[in-house]
Amino acid sequence: MMATAAATHQPVPEVLPRHVAIIMDGNGRWAARRHLPRAAGHRAGVEAVRTVTRAARAMGLEALTLYAFSSENWRRPEDEVSGLMGLLKFFIRHDLAELVRENVRLRVIGDYRRFPADVVALVEDAVERTAANTGPILAIALNYGAQAELVAAAQRLAARAAAGGMDPAAIDVDAVERELETRELPPLDLLIRTSGEQRLSNFLLWQAAYAELLFVETLWPDFGAADLAAAVDAFGRRQRRYGGL
Ligand code: IPE
Ligand code: IPE
Ligand code: MG
Repeated sequence: MMATAAATHQPVPEVLPRHVAIIMDGNGRWAARRHLPRAAGHRAGVEAVRTVTRAARAMGLEALTLYAFSSENWRRPEDEVSGLMGLLKFFIRHDLAELVRENVRLRVIGDYRRFPADVVALVEDAVERTAANTGPILAIALNYGAQAELVAAAQRLAARAAAGGMDPAAIDVDAVERELETRELPPLDLLIRTSGEQRLSNFLLWQAAYAELLFVETLWPDFGAADLAAAVDAFGRRQRRYGGL
């Protein structure tokens, strides 16, 4: 779609999603099909992250949120978990300069402070170094779980109410949204999951209330610019009704 549009100087599609989120799934199966260790799939997955974040910028998306590590992924073998941490460090070390240069605002959602101290320091430094940028948001979900996010929001609101700072009756949709980790991001328009699985796996449960969902068979390491363009194109052909007519 992008390539075609660029080649023929067609305008970008009229209905561009502002905020796209991706459950990047299928690295392990990609590796297994090649008789490679799962780690090789994760390494290939990082290449896809690079390609897709560039494509998202080229398309003019305002925000891209990537599910990199769920609060349930700790259940994996220790060496796989530490391998994923290593790849996160690798990604930041290799790609931060480009993000800074391209005016990207890097954000993290999730309880990333549970990661090893060196990873936490690197992540915080990376976020800080893009803090003055004004361009598109790249949000990485690290040790993220939507249920924990909602529980934390509920606890903060309850604490405020208990302290007398807020009438419980004033807790409405906007009040909850202001407590979510996505509060600075545009509303979620399109949620993509790769690898054929059709579940949300505790990702952006609140934010997905009226997002368009797209499940594709492509394994994450094979997902590229053309796949993102196809997803955005499919989004443009959806009719969103929000309960109306
Ligand atoms: C997604 O790929 C990456 C992470 C969850 C970090 P998987 O590792 O889940 O790949 P499959 O689902 O086993 O193929
Ligand atoms: C979801 O994928 C988490 C990420 C992509 C980071 P999983 O592979 O962990 O999800 P399940 O276990 O199949 O639901
Ligand atoms: Mg998986």
